[in-house]
Amino acid sequence: MKITVTGSLGNISKPLAKQLINVGHQVTIISSNANRTAEIEALGAKAAIGNIADADFLTKAFTEADVVYTMVPPNFGAANYRQYVADAAKSYAEAIQKAGITRVVNLSSIGADIDGGTGQIAGNHDAEIILNALPNVAIKHIRAGFFFVNFYANIDMIKHLGFIGSNYDSDARLIMVHPADIAAAIAEEIEQGFAGKSVRYITSDERSTGEIATILGKAIGKPDLKWVEFTDEQNLNGMLQAGLPQEVSSKFVEMGTAIRSGILWNDYDAKVTKPTGKTKLEDFTKEFAARF
Ligand SMILES: NC(=O)c1ccc[n+]([C@@H]2O[C@H](COP(=O)([O-])OP(=O)(O)OC[C@H]3O[C@@H](n4cnc5c(N)ncnc54)[C@H](OP(=O)(O)O)[C@@H]3O)[C@@H](O)[C@H]2O)c1
Repeated sequence: MKITVTGSLGNISKPLAKQLINVGHQVTIISSNANRTAEIEALGAKAAIGNIADADFLTKAFTEADVVYTMVPPNFGAANYRQYVADAAKSYAEAIQKAGITRVVNLSSIGADIDGGTGQIAGNHDAEIILNALPNVAIKHIRAGFFFVNFYANIDMIKHLGFIGSNYDSDARLIMVHPADIAAAIAEEIEQGFAGKSVRYITSDERSTGEIATILGKAIGKPDLKWVEFTDEQNLNGMLQAGLPQEVSSKFVEMGTAIRSGILWNDYDAKVTKPTGKTKLEDFTKEFAARF
């Protein structure tokens, strides 16, 4: 099959492209950075260099594809995060229609069933609705859990403050996923095919944040590492002091409140009995320790 993959050589797109190429598919990878062309070609893919906000560029990159994988990259500079995601989804929708694409796998998020109060994830909610409005296009939304790799953003906190934490306590649940497990789920959907509009959750492991601190701590030689709960205000100020813009920082805080209240997991809990991804937190600790 001819498959166009957005998301460059990112967390999910690189393992996804590799997997698709390995089984003989013709893959085009979209990146905004021309310097990545050689690395993309070295994988055995074609590079399409341009911006996902440019629907004409996307239309060309999608034309003749049997399947398109869409994702909206994080944008820490967005003036209005929800609007940024909706605009990207509209750009995808226009290109999907103009290029005559009939099958799309879209990266979404756990919590995308909720219309607001979930930080950046409200954007995924809107994106699902925008794409679902496309007639005659089969769409599979992959609602991924909290990425293990998000913990890389806590490395400075652990190094400089000696603890890990956020605006939810050490009993809070985190339903997590390894990007490789997301890539495997997307590849599986592409291979087996799908019709209509539907959602698939993909998660790898579920732990309390207290347990996560202990397990990550052990892997980096800090067996006493503790999870510390911050107030929303402390959390916001910490991110602003670390140089993150106000808009995205406030979205992280809001997402934290949805983790704290547990609303983020409600729809998942109603539909999924246990994680199916094969990479457990203990497996990820090797990658975490190497990055640390
Ligand atoms: N973090 C979580 O816990 C979580 C949970 C559920 C869902 N998600 C979803 O997953 C997404 C992140 O996926 P990921 O980790 O695979 O992405 P990623 O690795 O952070 O980024 C993908 C790549 O997209 C490219 N890109 C950025 N802006 C672009 C633009 N305007 N036009 C074209 N390409 C652009 C960049 O590469 P180049 O520099 O090569 O262009 C970037 O490295 C989130 O945005 C969210 O929607 C996240």
